[in-house]
This record gives sequence, structure tokens and C-alpha cells, in this order.
Amino acid sequence: MSVIKMKGIILHGGHGTRLRPLTHTGPKQLLPIANKPMSQYCIESIRDADITDIAIIIGGLGANKVREYYGNGENFGVNLTYIEQDEPRGIAHAIRLCKEFINNEKFLVFLGDNIIQKSITGFVENFTKSDYDATVLLCEVDNPSRFGIADVENEKIVKITEKPKKPASNLAVTGIYLLTPQIFEVIDNLKPSWRNELEITDALDNLLKQNDNIGYEIITDYWKDTGTPEDILNANRQVLENICNQTGSIIGKNCKIDESALIGRNVSIGDDTIISSDVVIENSIIMSGCKIDGGLNIKDSIISANCHLHGNNKDKTKKVFLLGEGTKITL
Ligand code: TTP
Repeated sequence: MSVIKMKGIILHGGHGTRLRPLTHTGPKQLLPIANKPMSQYCIESIRDADITDIAIIIGGLGANKVREYYGNGENFGVNLTYIEQDEPRGIAHAIRLCKEFINNEKFLVFLGDNIIQKSITGFVENFTKSDYDATVLLCEVDNPSRFGIADVENEKIVKITEKPKKPASNLAVTGIYLLTPQIFEVIDNLKPSWRNELEITDALDNLLKQNDNIGYEIITDYWKDTGTPEDILNANRQVLENICNQTGSIIGKNCKIDESALIGRNVSIGDDTIISSDVVIENSIIMSGCKIDGGLNIKDSIISANCHLHGNNKDKTKKVFLLGEGTKITL
């Protein structure tokens, strides 16, 4: 008997407005966390759960960069199909575009800006064996009003609400969904929300109303939805702590870092970057091809590729930068 393998979908579109100016020149999911694009963590996580047929939803300005980086997927051990979304019309809209690709089997959706550390293999296996209409992965959060929240009673999900004013729990619905093709019909009957998007939270809540049959699993380890610069620095710190040496920093290839420069904890430096003496950097992401000199003291910053920053060698106060690609600054 041949076993039909589950397929995967990665969402790589969206507006990325909260990450401007970093997202003016490319999609947020290609921004590096510990020198690796964040969506590559998703691909690896899905591949490690033995799902190798993956569709990537792309759209807008950065679509070609995604195709260029991942190609047909063979360098990453997967087989990729690209599906274009004309406008970011919502997560549920993006999922609906994959109906033909999915072809009536259970499937996994992973938002390309979600970072988790632990394997998803167990979640996938449990879902394959279950008869749930969907399974969501939940994670406890400190600020539930910012998320889609699951109301759980007697170990069953009874309601899913987007950004509730009075949250029924602190269990956020993460951006990893295990779904059945039933979701497509639910999305077909969905109305756009106030922000004119087809919302995954509404789709899941409507599916729940139909059969009262959505399962859940809880991620007890690290999970981050990296919508803002603070989230990205937080994810960078977490991944560095996990993979890294005692220095808590990572330095790319062909960099020239002067011996007297001080590279502190939670710092990622991309390839071909030059940092001169007297520069101090902590809790920051510096991407590739940058040049930093003039005694700058940098913290809590994200500096995109090919930026040139020149300090004036006098002002040693800590500076915070959020710079789009190719920015040139002389202080
Ligand atoms: P969001 O972070 O909710 O939205 P966004 O990317 O538009 O960002 P912002 O709010 O800062 O403008 O999107 C969650 C994920 O889903 C993210 O990986 C982008 C992706 N996405 C799509 O692929 N298509 C879409 O239509 C939307 C809305 C999001």
C-alpha cells in the first residue's frame, strides 16, 4: 500500500509594514536570524518532520528574491512549488490558493515569520493519526490581547478569538496549523475582516462551529512571531543561545573585525562586513557588506546589508539604529 505523504505550505507574502524600513527591499521572512533567513528555519523544521513537498506563497516586491534564494529546493532537501498571491489578502486567502496543490490530503501550514526551536515531528504524527478537522499549536504568552487566543474548556477548544479585549486564556494560536481540506470550503464562505483580509482566526472559529472538532497541542518551548524589530532581536538572541559558542555572537564569512572592536552578546554579523577598532556592538544584527567605523557604540539595532556608518570618534554614547539596505550615515 502506498502511503500518501502530507504536504506543507509556507507563507512568504504579506506587507511587513511593522518592519519598515527593513522590508522596503525584500520580504521580512528573508531577514536573517543568526545569519540564516528566518523562513529557512521553517523549511528545515518541515523537512525534519519528513514533509518534503512544499508550496511557498510569494507576493509583491520580494517574490523574486525568494525564488532566487530557495530555487527548486534541492539545496535544502525539499521539493518547492511557488504560488503567487496578487495582494496580501490575508492568511486564509493565501491558504485557499493552495487547494489544487494540496489535492484532498491533510496538510501543514507554517507562517514564514514564525520561529520555533523544538521539532514539530510529534505534532505532525499525532495529527496524521487523528480524526480532527484541524489541530492548532498553542503557546502561552504574556500579552494575550495581541494574539489570536484559544478558549480551552475541559481540554477542548471552545472558541478562537482574534486579539480579544478580555482574553479567556493566555494560549495564543501560533502560526503553525495542521489542516484538512475542509478548511477550503470554510474559507470560500468567509467574509473579509475590518482590515479587508480573510482571517485564519475566523476560518478556524467557523470550522470549530461546524463540527466542534479542532485539536490542539501546546508548544512549551520557545515560539516567536517576528512581526517587529524587537521580536527579531529576541529570536536572534534565542537562536544564538541555542546554537552558539560562549561568546553569544556569530560572525559571517570574509569579515574584517578589528581586534580591538568589542562584539558583545547577541550579535550577528553577516558576510563581508568590516568593523574597525573602537567600535562597540551589543544585542544587534548587522547584515552583510556593512562598514562601521569612527568609534560608534551600537546597541539594540538592526542594520541591513551594505550600510556604511561612520562615527565622529568623539560621541561614545550608545546609539540605536534601524536601517534599510544601503543606508549611509556620517555622524
Ligand atoms: P502578518 O505578520 O500578520 O502580516 P504582514 O506580514 O502583512 O505584516 P504587517 O502586519 O507588519 O504589515 O502575516 C503573518 C504571516 O503571513 C507572514 O509570514 C506574512 C504572511 N502573509 C501572507 O503570506 N499573505 C498575506 O496575505 C498575509 C496577510 C500574510
